[in-house]
Amino acid sequence: MTDLQKRLIEAAQKARMNARAKYSNFKVGAALLTADGQIFTGCNIESSSYGLTVCAERVALFKALSEGADDFTQLAVATSIDPPGSPCGACRQLLWDYARDIEIILAGDNSVVELTSLKALLPRPFGDEDI
Ligand code: THU
Repeated sequence: MTDLQKRLIEAAQKARMNARAKYSNFKVGAALLTADGQIFTGCNIESSSYGLTVCAERVALFKALSEGADDFTQLAVATSIDPPGSPCGACRQLLWDYARDIEIILAGDNSVVELTSLKALLPRPFGDEDI
């Protein structure tokens, strides 16, 4: 585990504390790293109209994109389960669209950490080259 990976996990765990998850009580934090070292964080934000809920990963991605960032290298996702939670299908697609094959760090309960990649999570992706 590199210092940068540790920093990213800590940022995701900190963002997780801000989760607005009063309906599921399942809190998620995410931290997205750019090639030039910026970190954009997100947490899940739930709605009383459940389908409007936005995942932590997409909040982090949209914050980054809306600030003009576009070169991403790593994403950390923090949950409190073992094995650690992994990005949902919708988030995998959006991450593929805007971040391509980044490293994914899954951090769960009891310091359990798994390293993977977006391509491993989404092995046969649909992308803009298919349109
Ligand atoms: N959730 C995330 O934030 N990220 C994921 O990748 C999976 C699910 C959130 C959405 C909802 O607020 C809660 O977890 C339960 O599904």
